[in-house]
Amino acid sequence: MIELKNVTKTYKMGEETIYALKNVNLKIKKGEFVSIMGPSGSGKSTMLNIIGCLDKPTEGEVYIDNILINKLDDDELTKIRRDKIGFVFQQFNLIPVLTALENVELPLIFKYRNSMSKEERKKRALECLKMAELDERFANHRPNQLSGGQQQRVAIARALANNPPIILADEPTGALDSKTGEKIMKLLKKLNESGKTIVVVTHDINVAKFGDRIIYLKDGEIEKEEYLK
Ligand SMILES: Nc1ncnc2c1ncn2[C@@H]1O[C@H](COP(=O)(O)OP(=O)(O)OP(=O)(O)O)[C@@H](O)[C@H]1O
Ligand SMILES: [Mg+2]
Repeated sequence: MIELKNVTKTYKMGEETIYALKNVNLKIKKGEFVSIMGPSGSGKSTMLNIIGCLDKPTEGEVYIDNILINKLDDDELTKIRRDKIGFVFQQFNLIPVLTALENVELPLIFKYRNSMSKEERKKRALECLKMAELDERFANHRPNQLSGGQQQRVAIARALANNPPIILADEPTGALDSKTGEKIMKLLKKLNESGKTIVVVTHDINVAKFGDRIIYLKDGEIEKEEYLK
């Protein structure tokens, strides 16, 4: 489902070259749940952004669903992101002036424009809120009228809107208390059990343990991998 072959990512800072990732090789199978851990600056977000086609590697190859993404232009990359990948972030990244429902409708508007009726779109968004286990009575609340956990549920519903096979989450519990964080992880686990491939970046071993495998990054390299089942 996801493959990185000899992936290196460098950033030029004046004279200096920073190696965010060094020659990383990684395969993630369809339906796997992988956690990525490692100290700050070890390259976790860089790796997730490359998997998510938000960023291109300096060297090496990236395959998503057997498609080599290196050679794709921006329009083609946008399409891969839209159809194959759902993103969840630490700070939820919801649009503050839109309701929960409208936030979830947004990716549907981008994908379907006018080929999906308003009624259909609303129905699909409500379905996604339900999958993310947000009570329907919060559908018309704006983000600032929701708790952190509820906002993350809306963000997960939004990630599910176009039914992507892959969900990527960068510190999805980082802004939540541990109890709420655990509920969010249980939800991601449930989505994984329903067939989604999931990659979660976290600092928290208790969060990482929801995965089938933990990848430890250090200085841009895979230091070790641990299989949990
Ligand atoms: N856009 C950028 N420009 C320059 N350097 C960058 C950029 N993005 C990341 N880096 C550098 O690449 C390295 C890896 O960064 P990355 O954000 O992937 O780390 P991380 O493991 O996600 O850290 P954290 O746990 O703090 O989020 C760091 O040294 C960082 O400073
Ligand atoms: Mg990071």
